[in-house]
Amino acid sequence: MAHASSSKRGTNARQQAIYTQGMAGYVPTIPPEPGALARAAAQIMNEAGRAYIDGGAGSETTMDANRRAFDDWQIVPSMLANVAERDTGISLFGRKLAQPFVLSPIGVLDLAHPAGDIGVARAAASRGVPFILSNQASQPMEACARAMDREAGDQSLGAPRWFQLYWPKSDELAASLVARAEASGCEALVVTLDTTLLGWRPRDLALGHLPFLHGRGIAQYTHDPVFRRLMKDAPKSERPPLTRTTLKNAIGAARRFPGSTLRAMVTGDGVAAVRQFIATYSRPDLTWDDLAWLRERTRLPILLKGILSPDDARRAKAAGMDGLVVSNHGGRQVDGAIASLDALPAIRAAVPEMPLILDSGVRTGADIFKALALGASAVGMGRPYAWALALGGQAGVAEWLDNIAAEFELTMALAGCASVADIQDASPRVIARNPSVASPAPNA
Ligand SMILES: Cc1cc2nc3c(=O)[nH]c(=O)nc-3n(C[C@H](O)[C@H](O)[C@H](O)COP(=O)(O)O)c2cc1C
Repeated sequence: MAHASSSKRGTNARQQAIYTQGMAGYVPTIPPEPGALARAAAQIMNEAGRAYIDGGAGSETTMDANRRAFDDWQIVPSMLANVAERDTGISLFGRKLAQPFVLSPIGVLDLAHPAGDIGVARAAASRGVPFILSNQASQPMEACARAMDREAGDQSLGAPRWFQLYWPKSDELAASLVARAEASGCEALVVTLDTTLLGWRPRDLALGHLPFLHGRGIAQYTHDPVFRRLMKDAPKSERPPLTRTTLKNAIGAARRFPGSTLRAMVTGDGVAAVRQFIATYSRPDLTWDDLAWLRERTRLPILLKGILSPDDARRAKAAGMDGLVVSNHGGRQVDGAIASLDALPAIRAAVPEMPLILDSGVRTGADIFKALALGASAVGMGRPYAWALALGGQAGVAEWLDNIAAEFELTMALAGCASVADIQDASPRVIARNPSVASPAPNA
């Protein structure tokens, strides 16, 4: 894998800046320790936001397993490796990136902060980190794309963005979403396969709260011409009992519908959009054969997200897919599912040349290092950027991006690797199974 041209001598600039500011009595706004970041965000978000963003499926064992899987591996640092020149860059789908990570798609980001997707988009663009725009975004992809282009200006980093697709029931709508993603400058398409049905999420269930029914997180649909046409024949869905809360929620859905709230109230468009969304979102009858249809429709690289088995990885390759996101959706779908990191080595062995992004449970620079050493081409960051958004909007995400980049760079250097390729080439020398866990070494 080729390298971006980021070369740093001596100290780490971000770390130095924090300590220098500290001399004047300032401390970072975004807690550098991920546990503290999660706790601070949990305090600032409302109950519904906290449940939706922090929650997982069932008893959340997979969420825990995602974290434990990282603890099951240990970095084995090498000394005297000359790490004065460091390069954290990678090349992914023809694009040079300064860091080996992307921002995984997260829906309904306005639950974290009113800046929502646009706040994250701007922060990502300012740092040249690819942002995977969610199909369940609070703001439409066109608005994010414009914000990213403005933010990046003429920086050489560019403002890379990908689009994540939830394949809807209507193929015409799928084609429209893909065409809009291409027109919005998206450089890859990520098809999420693990959410053809919504997982059983007790934290949301206990509150009786699903954001989409409030008209939240459906902006990609309400700004789509095909969806708007389909909406005219929106099927009647189960109606909630009529209470003051029902009325308040109908007004909320109208407020989130594009254009005037009054108009959306009078026409009933706010509620019709929710109904049409419910009717079109889920496509549980999707099969491997359907991928050919998508492959024909776009020249963009296609990645399948939610792959956890070597067999599925091989099938994806055979279907002409360009990459995989090894992910269990942050433990939000199948409680008891294998941790993503545990699934990674066998998938890498099954598809040796395929770009693999690993997400679910990545929190620190050390986690990124371990994933790269176990076969990932790059990692996908999830909840931590939503927490940073909750705490500081766009500036919060930018600060967190600087922290995670600095932490990864220092981990890499202190482990005796001067580049990402060094980590990948040196595996399994730089990584070992925690002796308290009985299991074979990677690639053994
Ligand atoms: C609040 C929330 C919303 C998410 N929304 C989406 C989504 O719209 N599309 C998608 O493919 N994945 C979605 N994901 C999954 C993430 O892309 C990613 O796989 C997951 O966050 C990784 O786990 P982690 O956050 O624990 O690291 C969502 C995750 C969270 C936490």
